[in-house]
Amino acid sequence: MEELINRAAEALSRSQHTVALTGAGISIESGIPPFRGKGGLWEKIDPMTFAHIDAFKRDPALVWEVLVKEMKGMIDTARPNDAHISLARLEEMGILSAVITQNVDGLHQAAGSRDVIEFHGNFAWLRCMSCDGRCETREADVAQLPPRCSCGGIYRPDCVFFGEMIPPGALTRSQLAASQCDVMLVVGTSALVQPAAFMPIIAKEGGATVIEINPEPTPLTSSVSDFLIAGSAGPVLSSVLETIGANGSGGASGSTR
Ligand code: APR
Repeated sequence: MEELINRAAEALSRSQHTVALTGAGISIESGIPPFRGKGGLWEKIDPMTFAHIDAFKRDPALVWEVLVKEMKGMIDTARPNDAHISLARLEEMGILSAVITQNVDGLHQAAGSRDVIEFHGNFAWLRCMSCDGRCETREADVAQLPPRCSCGGIYRPDCVFFGEMIPPGALTRSQLAASQCDVMLVVGTSALVQPAAFMPIIAKEGGATVIEINPEPTPLTSSVSDFLIAGSAGPVLSSVLETIGANGSGGASGSTR
């Protein structure tokens, strides 16, 4: 593990343009369960019945009941962990340019990351299906489901449901960032959902070093990634940051800890 952490620190110290792709695994240490694998949300609820746009249109109250029961409480109380904080620190040091996240929990921004591309939207916001008006989820009256806009329209979470397109702005910005980076950190994603899982391939084709951080291997590990650091995101990224600091090489801006 130590040799791999040194390799990652070395690559980041030399990097002019690092981008991170993150998934649910990075927020597990903040108390938000993943979607797949042991204890995953999709083990408890069927994603096609409760997280597909057709299901929401068919019965918004039912989908809201599950979303509120399963997600809202956790997202409202979750705090960023060492992994989120380390990525924000790498951005401050001028090493990391952007985070492409599949997560809808807003924890990267809460950790201080400034350039966060929300590939699947953000649960902290609602959008009216009639007037497109937006309101903060915490402001919405979820005692009555589905919550309603002042126009009478139904509010939906401003996230991407299965069966929906990725927001065009997020998609094009992510593809550009992936094609221009020289290092891509792939943190806490099973890399099973497209088109997010295609970003490391774009990075690799652009000549970038692709570094995975995940306790488990993924489909990228044997085909796209240069190496996998098989551990939890918090301790691994904290060690990488420490090693960069210890090497006294603070990246493009040269500012060390
Ligand atoms: N640190 C880093 N990674 C971890 C940790 C940890 N502490 N614990 C588990 N993981 C890894 C798992 O091994 C797994 O590979 O996190 C990954 C979580 O995978 P998923 O639950 O499939 O989450 P994600 O890849 O983000 O899913 C993609 O699918 O359901 C949709 O829209 C949803 O954005 C989501 C998308």
